[in-house]
Amino acid sequence: MEDRQGRLAAVDAEALQAAAVAAIGAAASEEELEELRVRYLGRKSELKLALREVRDRETGMALNAARAAVEEALAARAGELAAAGAATAGDGFDPTLPGTHVPRGSLHLITQLRRRIEDIFVGMGYQVYDGREVETVWHNYDALNQPEAHPSRDPQDTFYLDDDTLLRTHTSPSQIRAMLEQEPPLYLVSLGRTYRRDALDATHTPVFHQVEALAVDRGITLADLRGTVETFARAIFGGDRRVRMRTSFFPFTEPSVEFDVTCYLCDGVGCPVCKHSGWIEMGGAGEVDPNVFESVGYDPEEWTGFAFGLGIDRIAFLRHGLPDLRLFWENDIRFLEQF
Ligand code: PHE
Repeated sequence: MEDRQGRLAAVDAEALQAAAVAAIGAAASEEELEELRVRYLGRKSELKLALREVRDRETGMALNAARAAVEEALAARAGELAAAGAATAGDGFDPTLPGTHVPRGSLHLITQLRRRIEDIFVGMGYQVYDGREVETVWHNYDALNQPEAHPSRDPQDTFYLDDDTLLRTHTSPSQIRAMLEQEPPLYLVSLGRTYRRDALDATHTPVFHQVEALAVDRGITLADLRGTVETFARAIFGGDRRVRMRTSFFPFTEPSVEFDVTCYLCDGVGCPVCKHSGWIEMGGAGEVDPNVFESVGYDPEEWTGFAFGLGIDRIAFLRHGLPDLRLFWENDIRFLEQF
């Protein structure tokens, strides 16, 4: 009798366990799982009642094994439902939703171009030299062989701080400072802000940026200047840009030239960017005037050199086809974030 009951209980226990585990595995919600827990393990459940009635060891073991298996299945399914629930619950994390856009800042277009230009010159073996924005009249004009009566010295064009100091009108005084500090040979590039009393409009800003290059060595010629300018123009504007030089005048160079580069848009054919000339004006240049060497104590019989200077804003303006230089100063995020 006991034997028979025990065997039956064991068979029941196995069937019960199988049914319970299957139902639990298919439970679709935590509520359903709770109902199943009550049905299979509750105080009035078949299993609990049978356990209470148990008389023999074999039956007891079989029923306990079934209870353990059902408890295990409940815990496993609860874990699965919790994970799935977290994914869809309102306060949880849903990996299927689009992410939150975190806007990333970027460097100002002028800063990017400054760094690019520095890299190009560093690649040619030049040092990057930091000049000063507040300069003496001597560094900005006199030492650069600028005649006392030159119109650019006029307070109408130059921001004077007092009789002897001003906001530099170009980066050329960096040449003077570097040569006073260092012995030749010398290869340097100097970039920064420059100031002129221009009325603010689409193509003039009273603050702008220049890059100055200076090479001092023995036997430097205009051909070296030309090759350097061409290398630079190609690095900036890309492709097979050609460079031309036109005679000009600057007090600190002799001979002096202005240099143009073939239009990056039409490659010299003529288009609105180059005003149908095929050429874009880039900057001024020349062989360092012997008077400049004398003002810094270099022997003009021994040393030769070239210098050139150009506007950084202008390059960015042309390169990106911008309509107005003032965009560089307004810090409108819609403009800045495009670069
Ligand atoms: N400093 C000149 C300017 O501002 C440019 C220049 C630099 C010309 C070096 C010749 C040599 O226009």
